Amino acid sequence: MSRDNRDRPLIGKGYTYNVYDLGKGRVLKTEKTLPQILVDTYFYEGQDVKNYLKTIARLIDKSRVIEINRYVRLYVDPVIVGHPVFLGGINYEQDRVEPLGTILERSGPAAKRDIIDQYIESIFAHWENGFSDTVFNFTINSGLGSGGNMVLLDFNEIVMSKQETQRRIVSKRWFRTWSYKQLDPGLQDYYSKRMDEIITVDALNEHWRGK
Ligand SMILES: Nc1ncnc2c1ncn2[C@@H]1O[C@H](COP(=O)(O)OP(=O)(O)O)[C@@H](O)[C@H]1O
Ligand SMILES: [Mg+2]
Repeated sequence: MSRDNRDRPLIGKGYTYNVYDLGKGRVLKTEKTLPQILVDTYFYEGQDVKNYLKTIARLIDKSRVIEINRYVRLYVDPVIVGHPVFLGGINYEQDRVEPLGTILERSGPAAKRDIIDQYIESIFAHWENGFSDTVFNFTINSGLGSGGNMVLLDFNEIVMSKQETQRRIVSKRWFRTWSYKQLDPGLQDYYSKRMDEIITVDALNEHWRGK
């Protein structure tokens, strides 16, 4: 890490990154230190030792993140991932966006449904770029940029495999995520109907453009 982040406000934290505001509509994501990962993950996993060890093993092996970042850098339309600029290691800068969860919180019913529709539409844009999200935690992993454009802000969980994507569609993986579970019941119903209608194997065959 060549940059000094001590003066930059920390605006977010995930399993992998600390996220700092750089001003001028950009953020910096730097890899957490190993002690930070070891402590934070224990709490994120609800102090469940089995899940903890599994997650730690996944986080310590960075080869997957390196491969994803390389794919994003070479093949993905920068607009849909917030114009990332990759720095040393797995660190990168990105456009600052507002996560969909906070937008949903302050929106009325019609606007909420509109956000859901825009998110589902963005899944097609991912497929057209040869990747798919696997966990569909859209309230925290997607957001809107300053121009109102949909951005996948966390692309750590993507796969570049059509077959794997098809498996996730068939198993309707989106029902097992936190983002779905914490929607209010009316919106859950809307989201599940729209996902059922739109996120299908036929749609995958129509939109997938693998590299
Ligand atoms: N581009 C961004 N704009 C605004 N907030 C962000 C941005 N990227 C990340 N964040 C915030 O930081 C959190 C962690 O970032 P994320 O990329 O999801 O890291 P991790 O891969 O460790 O989960 C996000 O859930 C979000 O709240
Ligand atoms: Mg995240």
